[in-house]
Amino acid sequence: MNRSEPVSLAESSRWDQRYREGTDGWELGRAAPPLAQFLRRHPLAPRPPGQVLVPGCGRGHEVALLEALGFAAIGLDFSAEALAEARARHGHDRASLRWLQADLFDRQALEAAGLAPGSLTGIVEHTCFCAIDPRRRDDYIATACRLLAPGGWLLGLFWCHRKPGGPPWGSQPELVEAQLRQAGLVPEIWEPASGSVDQRHDEWLGLWRQPASPRPSGGLPSC
Ligand SMILES: C[S@@+](CC[C@H](N)C(=O)[O-])C[C@H]1O[C@@H](n2cnc3c(N)ncnc32)[C@H](O)[C@@H]1O
Repeated sequence: MNRSEPVSLAESSRWDQRYREGTDGWELGRAAPPLAQFLRRHPLAPRPPGQVLVPGCGRGHEVALLEALGFAAIGLDFSAEALAEARARHGHDRASLRWLQADLFDRQALEAAGLAPGSLTGIVEHTCFCAIDPRRRDDYIATACRLLAPGGWLLGLFWCHRKPGGPPWGSQPELVEAQLRQAGLVPEIWEPASGSVDQRHDEWLGLWRQPASPRPSGGLPSC
């Protein structure tokens, strides 16, 4: 699969349809409890200020949480339906909140929208990684690394279920860890999540950090 290839229009239309029809089994109606608890209470939780992106933000619950905590939050999704609902629930663009309709894998579109390399303080992942084609996971991670500033962080709730098929596509914590490490991200936390909703007892929570200075050449391929 071509790394820079945007996802097809048909793919975003399928997500639009799920929102229109209400076939949205992933919807929690609030920010995922493990992420909310972590961001509100954990001593290692990243603190504002900073510009933080939520890829595949859906109805935007994590975006609203980040704004409430004091971050400049950006919710990105390629589904117009999702973003229309996000705006209806959480309001329109303002200084501390922005909705961006774009394909996460469309580098040109991201840069045109101001998401240049190194432009983000942080990224919050919730059920986007498990929604994309598993063959594009390296691409997801490379995109995250490219967008994060040196020392930037990726806070993610990864659904590591082992059921066949998807979305949501399953994963194994060891493989996710290996992929993130391979990209040069460093774990500060990588552990089974606590406080997950009942049907997601197999989530893992990770706080991963981009090194503060570029690694010397000759290392593993990275962002
Ligand atoms: C399972 S939903 C999760 C939504 C939200 N994160 C939540 O937990 O409620 C996955 C979301 O990712 C979006 N998405 C999938 N692939 C994407 C891509 N390549 N670029 C942007 N958004 C994408 C879909 O439109 C959908 O809103």
